[in-house]
Amino acid sequence: MERDIERVLISAQELEEHVAEIGAQISRDFEGKDPIFIGVLKGCFIFMADLMRHVSIKCSMDFMAVSSYSGTTSTGAVKINKDLSEDIEGRHIIIVEDILDSGVTLNYLKNFLMVRNPASISIATLMDKPARRKADVYADYSCFEIPDAFVVGYGLDYNERYRNLPYIGVLKSEIYS
Ligand code: IMP
Ligand code: MG
Repeated sequence: MERDIERVLISAQELEEHVAEIGAQISRDFEGKDPIFIGVLKGCFIFMADLMRHVSIKCSMDFMAVSSYSGTTSTGAVKINKDLSEDIEGRHIIIVEDILDSGVTLNYLKNFLMVRNPASISIATLMDKPARRKADVYADYSCFEIPDAFVVGYGLDYNERYRNLPYIGVLKSEIYS
């Protein structure tokens, strides 16, 4: 598995440090607001698990599953595979994403959730690839800004593989070409 990785972009230690900082920042910003964290499956699962252990305020959590990608290129279409189980009306929402790339997925999700009248919607992303942005959407909390490369690990996949790597790595281009 590791031979498919060209280089480590973000080490396990850097992940730990930056995720802890964002968790502390969110805890300060949402103190007394009882926010609901909405993880976008599957990519968020490791980030969210680590992030939540650095959130020290009263809050709740829920998950959604969406699909927009097959391979390394966006199909442009977003499909809701699993909706929320909690009611979000009047609640402060923090969407937890693995990576903000074109922004198509998050833009769609924000509009989809807005209709249910939450008190606010914020976005917390592990990584942001601003160079590839197509939709007008930005992250309120971002742990890392990264260049335009296809990355895997720490929850992120290429065709469902590599999610279990403990770091963020750049995949060798021969793997997906
Ligand atoms: P967007 O709609 O283009 O912003 O794409 C968002 C989704 O595409 C992310 O939640 C990821 O699941 C996936 N994605 C985008 N870039 C990468 C990458 O470099 N590696 C793995 N998945 C990615
Ligand atoms: Mg994702």
